[in-house]
This record gives sequence, structure tokens and C-alpha cells, in this order.
Amino acid sequence: MKFGMIGGGFGAFIGDAHRRASRISNRFELTGGAFDVDYEKGKEFARSEGIANNRCYASIVEFITGELSLPANERIEAVAIVTPNFLHFPHAKLLLENGFHVMCEKPMTMTVEEAEELQQLVATTGLTFALAHTYTGYPMVREMRELIKQRILGDIQRVDAQYYQGWINSIIHGRENKITGVWRLEPTRVYMPGNAYNTEFADISITMPAGHPEGIYESLANIYSGFAKSIRDESFTEGEFPTVNEGVRGMKFVHSVVKSNKENSSWVDL
Ligand SMILES: NC(=O)c1ccc[n+]([C@@H]2O[C@H](COP(=O)([O-])OP(=O)(O)OC[C@H]3O[C@@H](n4cnc5c(N)ncnc54)[C@H](O)[C@@H]3O)[C@@H](O)[C@H]2O)c1
Repeated sequence: MKFGMIGGGFGAFIGDAHRRASRISNRFELTGGAFDVDYEKGKEFARSEGIANNRCYASIVEFITGELSLPANERIEAVAIVTPNFLHFPHAKLLLENGFHVMCEKPMTMTVEEAEELQQLVATTGLTFALAHTYTGYPMVREMRELIKQRILGDIQRVDAQYYQGWINSIIHGRENKITGVWRLEPTRVYMPGNAYNTEFADISITMPAGHPEGIYESLANIYSGFAKSIRDESFTEGEFPTVNEGVRGMKFVHSVVKSNKENSSWVDL
């Protein structure tokens, strides 16, 4: 299906992953977009992707106006929002209000109120809204979800999540900004891809910055496949793509963390 993108031009990080993932899923064809905050750069990028001039727009408003002026069978149906955080809500709102299915980068919004407004909009429009919680596309994360859902693991008593950030090492051990007493980070040496210490041979094989594991394109592609099935009314398993509801839960979680922090790290209600 014809696919558009807001953001994701030259040098943009996650837009590239979305293009790769949408291609791996084999359901989408990048047809147009407003790729860059700088229109000239956006046009240059569109040319490099082989996208027709008249499908590269200066802004999201021009994108919507331009696409809606086309016959329905030529129009872009689904749009990925890969712009900075503060633009996710206004962009998603505009796209949903104008009949486009949305694949939105996280965090879905900046506030719980905005998240709930999108939730309402998805319910009233009946459009498909997918949230790019990329790691939910990993097969073994899905396995874990099922094990929990089917109560094979019983009551979950503790969740231990880790996200290795190897670059912290130089801050701890460097001459400047040295943090002392962080004994738990003194990182047994764990070699991870995308770091300055990688050999040249490993380096030329790495496509993501440090912290993003291999398999991320395929994981995001799984989310794209679920997104496509929903748009086309094909059967799919709940959880094949994170929805607007996960976005609301996420925003409530972030909001509660901030509240807890302001209240001297006390327990707060979600
Ligand atoms: N799902 C994931 O694993 C993951 C990983 C990294 C980043 N992200 C999210 O992706 C989003 C983008 O991050 P990034 O690192 O790719 O940022 P980036 O700065 O590399 O790219 C942002 C792009 O948006 C464009 N842009 C900005 N304003 C625009 C506008 N008004 N109209 C059209 N284009 C506009 C910029 O020109 C640029 O091309 C962030 O919200 C971030 O949280 C998600």
C-alpha cells in the first residue's frame, strides 16, 4: 500500500529504520512525504529515493492537502511519523482527522491528556494507529507476553529490564566528569556493537548506533506487518502492533515517574 513519511530525511536516525522495516514487511511502498524541516533538503532526499517531485511536500499540512486532492486509488493511505517528540501529537491528530492510518514514533505524545485525545480520535475514526514500540516486535518478547498472558508464569513479582549503555563507561572512568562509587558499572567487559572500541571489520558491518541490537529492522518489520493486516481488515493477533492504548499507558507511566520524583521518590498511583 502507498506509504508516506513525516520526517526521516537525510541523516535522520529512525526514519531509515522505518523505511527498511516497511520494505522487509513487503506490504508498503514509500510514495511521498514531508521528509525534512528544510524543504530543499527534503526534496533532495526524495530525489535520492526515486520519489516523484509532486509527492514531496514542504510541510504536513501541504502533504495532507496534496494527497487529499488525488483520486483515492493514487493516494497515500498510511503515514509514519518519525519527527521529534513534540511533533508526534499534532502530526498524528492532523493525519487521523484527515483519514490517514498512522504509524507513530514513541513517545506517543507529551502529556496524558494528549494521549487520551488520540485514543478518542482513533476510536471515532476507526483508523489503524500503530505505535513504534520496536522491541515488542521481537519474537521472544512476544513469547514472554504469551507466557505471562496464559499465566504459565503465575503472578509476576518483579520485572528486571536492562538496556546497556556502554558509552557511560568513559564518563565513569574518564578523567573528567568522573562518577565515583558506581561499583555496579565496573562493565566485566561486555563487547557490544556500535562502540568506538569496535574493530574496523565489525564497524563496517554495523548499521545501528550503540545500544540498538541486531534484529531491530526485522522486529519493526513485524510491527509493520501487523499494521498492514489491520488496515486491510485481515485477521491478526492482538499485540502484533502496539496501539494507541499502549500509548496512553506509556504516558501515564512517564507522568507517574515524574510525579514520584517530585514527591521524593514516593509510591504514586498509576
Ligand atoms: N522506536 C525506536 O526504537 C526509536 C529509536 C530512536 C528514536 N526514536 C524516536 O524517533 C523520533 C525521531 O528521532 P530521530 O533520532 O530519528 O531524530 P532525527 O533528528 O534524527 O530526525 C528527525 C527528522 O524529522 C525532521 N523534521 C523535524 N521537524 C519536522 C517537521 N516539522 N516536518 C517534517 N519533518 C520534520 C527532521 O528534519 C529530521 O529529518 C523521536 O521521537 C525518537 O523518540 C525511536
